[in-house]
Amino acid sequence: MPAFKTRPLTSEFGVQVSGIDLAEVSNPRVFGQIRALFEEHSALLFRGQDLSDAQHKQLAELFGPIEDRKADERKKGEAFEVPVVSNVREDGSITEEMDLHTLNLKSNFLWHSDSTFLPTPALTNILIGRVVTTEGGATELASTRAAWASMPEDLKAKVRGRGIWHRYSHSRRKISPELAKLPMFNKWPDQHWNALWRNPVNGREALYIASHAFKLDGYDEAEGQAILDELITFCTQPQFVYAHSWRVGDVLIWDQRAVLHRGTPWPYEQPRVLSSLCASVTEADGIDRMRMPT
Ligand code: OGA
Ligand code: MN
Repeated sequence: MPAFKTRPLTSEFGVQVSGIDLAEVSNPRVFGQIRALFEEHSALLFRGQDLSDAQHKQLAELFGPIEDRKADERKKGEAFEVPVVSNVREDGSITEEMDLHTLNLKSNFLWHSDSTFLPTPALTNILIGRVVTTEGGATELASTRAAWASMPEDLKAKVRGRGIWHRYSHSRRKISPELAKLPMFNKWPDQHWNALWRNPVNGREALYIASHAFKLDGYDEAEGQAILDELITFCTQPQFVYAHSWRVGDVLIWDQRAVLHRGTPWPYEQPRVLSSLCASVTEADGIDRMRMPT
């Protein structure tokens, strides 16, 4: 039994786990304990880790199939590479504040859950701090499970039992119409998910919502968007939020079924690089009950 310790990140959700070397979690018993913490606390922080890309992939695969949004873009024989959230070009220069690339990073400043626009959404994102900034650049998490549990009934009633439609280009359009037109944001048909995700392990419900959400069943688009905005505003009040200031070697893992996240601004002339691997949900994660007719 590894002697690891946990410490709460906030009073509502999230734990920091110490005493585990994530390079060695392939032992099923150790991973079983990590997975149990993930189901219970929705967000896990490990510090001082030194994971290679290969070890990062091994860890993600324990959660589920690795998400590969660029499968259709790669030529034959080109290997999958761990995606980075980065403002550093291949030649080492830094993308300018108004570059489409930087604007895409800024779209991450809108509260979201990853990949709600994919036919199979993400269960988790495992982010690793590679190059960090001297100020700003925190990643914030908000528990839609804790928020749902304390949401007033009249707000709950506006969304309970309904489906929400998600589209990648919708979140990009909020930042830049030009960005939204890029092919990479228009590859998938609109997705229709139940507004509430029930965790099959512990039965806890969480609001499943994102910046990608553009329509709520039973309302016209404007009315629906106003309710979606109201719901996100409720869920992201300070008591439901953990703000993570990055250090190199930090590993942050969260449950996309129950947590919203966003990036925050930094001085754009500074490099910032996070490795980011999503693992997709499987049936065991409760996806079947989320699908609504399209
Ligand atoms: C992501 C993301 C936010 C950040 O990797 O999915 O939204 O802080 N990142 O860069
Ligand atoms: Mn994200």
